[in-house]
Amino acid sequence: MSRPTQFKRIVLNSRPEGDIEPDTFRTEVVPFSSLPKPGKGEVLVQCTWLSLDPAMRGYIRDVRSYLPPVKIGEVMRALGLGVVIETGPGSKFSVGDNVSGPWGMTEYAVMKDKHIDKIDLLPGVQPLDFLNVLGSSGLTAYFGLKKIGELKPGEKLVVSGAAGSVGAIACQLGKAAGAKVYAIAGSEDKCRWLENDLGVDKAFNYKSPTFHSDIKKHVGYLDVYFDNVGGDMLDFLLTRLNKDARIILCGAISAYNATKPKGLQSYLNLISQRAKIQGFIVMDYTPEYPAAIAELSKGLSSGAIKRKFHIVEGGIEQAPVALPMLFSGGNTGKLVVKVSEEPKGLQAKSKL
Ligand SMILES: NC(=O)c1ccc[n+]([C@@H]2O[C@H](COP(=O)([O-])OP(=O)(O)OC[C@H]3O[C@@H](n4cnc5c(N)ncnc54)[C@H](OP(=O)(O)O)[C@@H]3O)[C@@H](O)[C@H]2O)c1
Repeated sequence: MSRPTQFKRIVLNSRPEGDIEPDTFRTEVVPFSSLPKPGKGEVLVQCTWLSLDPAMRGYIRDVRSYLPPVKIGEVMRALGLGVVIETGPGSKFSVGDNVSGPWGMTEYAVMKDKHIDKIDLLPGVQPLDFLNVLGSSGLTAYFGLKKIGELKPGEKLVVSGAAGSVGAIACQLGKAAGAKVYAIAGSEDKCRWLENDLGVDKAFNYKSPTFHSDIKKHVGYLDVYFDNVGGDMLDFLLTRLNKDARIILCGAISAYNATKPKGLQSYLNLISQRAKIQGFIVMDYTPEYPAAIAELSKGLSSGAIKRKFHIVEGGIEQAPVALPMLFSGGNTGKLVVKVSEEPKGLQAKSKL
């Protein structure tokens, strides 16, 4: 396989105050020869796909969080899919292996074996699923509902950001668990997709002037709220809690571009309804990923879980351009960027 003479990567250029700006990131073109040769237990990966995630807005904020902020000039953090094109001495991978990992917005990267995962494909599963149902989104929906929501059959589950990547999977897992599922999304088209294709009991457009009265009329009070949005939506749904309700604080996308998030007015309902509200980070459950992936794979293979992608073509430079779509509601399903075709003509080399 011939190697390019140079490759592209996207680095953080400046920290935005609010929305991501055109100059928040910049593209660097660097010589391929600047990449080190993979050392012991390392591989060289060619990136084929990148995942775009709301968390990226948090990664570029200079505050304490569950991961350190991306520094100015550093390659932007991102999860990707790729193919191993060279192995270092003693690597457990082979040339041609499909892998996933956090190499960031770069076309090529040298990665340690321990920081990437080989993708094992079961029947009915495709590599791209590892950025969606079998990746962070699916695992977030799975552990959020199971560990924090403790959802039981017959309960009423409300999911916000429901036509997005995590939300769409949470809705489907909620139905599979025997709950009544109510979805909230930002357009009539998204609501129809949630009802007609994903089978939620009812979907609500939060931009409709009758949104609040619609929720009161059709949901009444809820048992579990899977919150992807935070802000006013969370505040309103705190007024709709059944006794012993659980609120899964998964994300707060409405607040990610704000300098300061809005405070909650309705939290006293947590006391009167003996409700629990708990945040979580999916990575806390890493040791349990294999079992969850096995279960989610079965759902994909059988067709019980449907996947939807919003694919952005045009290479790695489209990643920063497409990222704001998550905040304007431009995506339905998992937002991914196609970085390159899978390299052809790779042959597994014997290990050194
Ligand atoms: N805790 C964890 O470990 C973890 C892991 C992964 C993701 N998350 C969180 O999960 C949430 C969903 O992530 P995702 O990857 O699945 O993204 P996504 O839902 O695919 O995309 C974001 C969606 O959020 C909606 N949205 C944007 N701004 C909004 C606003 N102001 N009010 C209401 N809805 C808004 C938009 O849809 P509409 O058209 O419906 O507005 C948009 O399509 C995010 O908050 C993310 O940070 C948490």
